[in-house]
Amino acid sequence: MATRGQEHLKVLLRRSAIQRRVLEMGRQISRDFRGERVHLIGVLKGASIFLSDLIRGISLEVSLDFMAVSSYGKGSQTSGQVRLTKDLDTSIEGLNVILVEDILDTGLTLNYLYRVLQQRKPKALRIAALLDKLERRIKEVKVDYVGFRIPNEFVVGYGLDYGERYRNLKDVCVLSLPPE
Ligand code: IMP
Ligand code: MG
Repeated sequence: MATRGQEHLKVLLRRSAIQRRVLEMGRQISRDFRGERVHLIGVLKGASIFLSDLIRGISLEVSLDFMAVSSYGKGSQTSGQVRLTKDLDTSIEGLNVILVEDILDTGLTLNYLYRVLQQRKPKALRIAALLDKLERRIKEVKVDYVGFRIPNEFVVGYGLDYGERYRNLKDVCVLSLPPE
């Protein structure tokens, strides 16, 4: 266990397990879209590390774009309102789109993004999330590729942050905060 100030980190998913699972997800996507091209859309910034491993696990023609959202909140609380802060560079009409996100929590972010992207007439629209905290769901989201179902704990590492820190941890860790 590592600490920073009063914050405690406990490993939840080891890097080797993450690596294995992400490659499996890449293979699954390659099977599902065999002979076709896929267009990955990463949700900045948390999904960037997952996306960079996932894309190398896909043995198809792949293109890439990014979106960014703000959920009007800092730290470990989501406020509920989602706003697009960076839109796509190119049209997705007629493309096999896979929306790539780090974690599915309340579902507000992906529910919103799914509706925005669906209006742009992709050929297919799928969702890949590394982590899923099913217990926390408020808005329904149909997720096609899930790395790991995790308990209702705040996690950091492998792209996930707490106040922009810890994204560089190789393992996914549970972060315990000091009492306020
Ligand atoms: P949702 O809209 O509540 O599903 O939350 C999605 C976003 O909240 C994710 O993209 C993360 O940025 C953030 N988030 C939710 N749970 C965690 C967590 O445990 N650690 C770090 N970020 C989280
Ligand atoms: Mg995020």
